[in-house]
Amino acid sequence: MKLPVNATKKYDIVSFPSFDFLAVEMKKKARGKNVLIVSDDNVAPLYLEEVKSALSGFFVHTFVFPAGERSKNVDTYLKIVGALAENGFVRQDCVLALGGGVVGDVAGFAAATYMRGISFVQCPTSFLAMIDSSVGGKTAVDLPQGKNLLGAFYQPDLVYIALKTLSTLPEREVRCGMGEAVKYAFLSESVTPELLKRGVTEELIFECLKIKADIVEKDEFDKGTRAFLNLGHTLGHAVEKLSDYSLSHGECVVKGLAKIIDMSVKKFSLSEEKKQKMISLLALSGTEPTLPFGLQEVLAETVHDKKREKSGVNFVLLKDIGKPTSVLLTAEEAEALLQ
Ligand SMILES: NC(=O)c1ccc[n+]([C@@H]2O[C@H](COP(=O)([O-])OP(=O)(O)OC[C@H]3O[C@@H](n4cnc5c(N)ncnc54)[C@H](O)[C@@H]3O)[C@@H](O)[C@H]2O)c1
Repeated sequence: MKLPVNATKKYDIVSFPSFDFLAVEMKKKARGKNVLIVSDDNVAPLYLEEVKSALSGFFVHTFVFPAGERSKNVDTYLKIVGALAENGFVRQDCVLALGGGVVGDVAGFAAATYMRGISFVQCPTSFLAMIDSSVGGKTAVDLPQGKNLLGAFYQPDLVYIALKTLSTLPEREVRCGMGEAVKYAFLSESVTPELLKRGVTEELIFECLKIKADIVEKDEFDKGTRAFLNLGHTLGHAVEKLSDYSLSHGECVVKGLAKIIDMSVKKFSLSEEKKQKMISLLALSGTEPTLPFGLQEVLAETVHDKKREKSGVNFVLLKDIGKPTSVLLTAEEAEALLQ
């Protein structure tokens, strides 16, 4: 399948069964000869050799770091840009992210900043990265003070999905991506419960991507409606940090979404029927929605979230399924809705 994204940079998201067409797709865009494949030590043993051999005609370099959110830091970033400099990369050359959202975010930030921006290709290998993080141009690393605090908007030149990579994705990571897929189902009825029930399919991936691309095209630099993509994330990020990243991003989004349902029901006096419809939709994520920490603790952490404004914290609430809305709440107002 193919989906064009009309951001300030125009690019395609393409899917193929394997990496066989990667070089062909890259040559449509790339002018440089050097490619640095950035991957983690779970994904690299599975796919690095295959990607290297698919990239005939390019000079391929590799950088592999330990898997996991803890690697999404300044140290990994500096090592990647260091590798680019040592190997004489110039602007036309390319960084290729082969992995999940962690690889994509840190490799993307390196691509965005090395020589003020070099060519960048996303090869997402996790379900979450396929439907979310590889598209839209948000790149970042975490700081000790919080997630994604150092980053840049930088659209890729190509997003290449090799569907075969899903076959090795651990069950927990599939559920993690389902958390984000359910988020899209809350944002638009085009991701139906029936589609979610069929599990990870190419159709589900592209239905989610259509929603993401549409929102990104309308508000690339996150000044308004792009905030809708943060549905469940404001509380979710706080839970993720409190768990010291032992809970996955998607799991935390589901826990955040559960609280958003409670808050929305209270704020907009939603009917019992609407509430039950939302709860059933959330259950399709397959993740336990209860908060593993006290409300006070989660709210205190939320205040540190980067989405806070001087006068309060921005929450995306739901007037109904498919009807998100941004609401600025003081900590006291949020607490009252959460009680
Ligand atoms: N940039 C954005 O717009 C955006 C959006 C959502 C999330 N994110 C970020 O994405 C990250 C989460 O992404 P993620 O869930 O992909 O995490 P991840 O990159 O840590 O991948 C999850 C795990 O799956 C493994 N893995 C990935 N693909 C695999 C495969 N095909 N086979 C076997 N193992 C595989 C990884 O090694 C890792 O252990 C977070 O840092 C989050 O902040 C960014």
